[in-house]
Amino acid sequence: MHDYLIEMLECPACHGELAWTISERRGGRIESAEARCVGCAASYPVREGIALFLTPDLPRNDLWEQTAGRLSRYLGEHPEIERQLIDVPLDALAPADQFFRALVLEERGNYAEAQAAAGLAYPGLYTPQYLACHESQMACIVEQLRASAGPVIDLASGRCSLVEVLARRLGQPVVATDFSPRALRRDRQWLEFLGLYDRVSLLSFDARRTPFRDGAVKTLTTNLGLPNIAEPGNLLRELRRVVSGTFWAVSHFYAEGDEVNATAIHEAGLAPLLFRRSALELFAAAGWQVEVVNSQKGRALPTPRSELLGGAGIDGFPVAETVLEWCVLVAR
Ligand SMILES: C[S@@+](CC[C@H](N)C(=O)[O-])C[C@H]1O[C@@H](n2cnc3c(N)ncnc32)[C@H](O)[C@@H]1O
Repeated sequence: MHDYLIEMLECPACHGELAWTISERRGGRIESAEARCVGCAASYPVREGIALFLTPDLPRNDLWEQTAGRLSRYLGEHPEIERQLIDVPLDALAPADQFFRALVLEERGNYAEAQAAAGLAYPGLYTPQYLACHESQMACIVEQLRASAGPVIDLASGRCSLVEVLARRLGQPVVATDFSPRALRRDRQWLEFLGLYDRVSLLSFDARRTPFRDGAVKTLTTNLGLPNIAEPGNLLRELRRVVSGTFWAVSHFYAEGDEVNATAIHEAGLAPLLFRRSALELFAAAGWQVEVVNSQKGRALPTPRSELLGGAGIDGFPVAETVLEWCVLVAR
């Protein structure tokens, strides 16, 4: 993480001040440190440049950790499948398997080949409209942020698609965040490979309990992060507490009449932020003024499953063909 973040941070558990002991720096970046809360004595380390502000009390279903563990175990037990996944021409694989090959190559640090595999997988995993709508929302945020200054904090950054676009096209520093340290370790290597790591800091925390001081964040973004946060509870209030500027959220919404997807989404407990009306109501109830910009509709299909890895899937939703409304939610 970069030095400038220190003054924006506090203890995520009790909001106390942090006392920093920095053991290793590189350039304007802290590689290794300990931040101790002067109030509750909780301790938060910085390791490999990644600041870890996770608190022990919030349950964490880290799919990054689970998928990587399962994938490497499965391939270890089935070397013939591993050969079929890695040693065949890329275009002989189904799109989901091209994507899983990218994950395996990333685990091995082979980012150039992983990039090629993921690049080929996406057009087979998503409809052209899905990809175009998604691209358009990220471009919309870039245009809006061009005139702004100061760091952009991105929430639930995952594979850092939006972080990558922001770091490439904007001059200001970017902070990638996720509750999965594993995702951020992967992001560090990925951004180093792309030559974009210089301007990016990595912070691990749960979006429901962030380590930011009241009003410390002028610009918050997220790319499809909100609906991935299980048991969101006070999430939008917590974000309201820390944001004194604008929150830009790439979002997509299911139609109210889409019964098949609605039922599956409700069963997964993810409904409130995947439907326009309830999302807007939740933002308003948490004290935000919110508007919808760059709205556009696009056909979406369930992502096809792996042919090699026992039918493993990529995205949970949609479960049936649908038309999604894409937009950027602009909340102040
Ligand atoms: C699918 S990604 C969203 C796409 C991503 N923003 C991008 O630009 O590539 C969702 C991420 O949310 C993270 N996540 C889920 N629950 C979270 C929480 N409570 N706090 C922080 N991150 C969370 C997951 O680890 C995952 O990486």
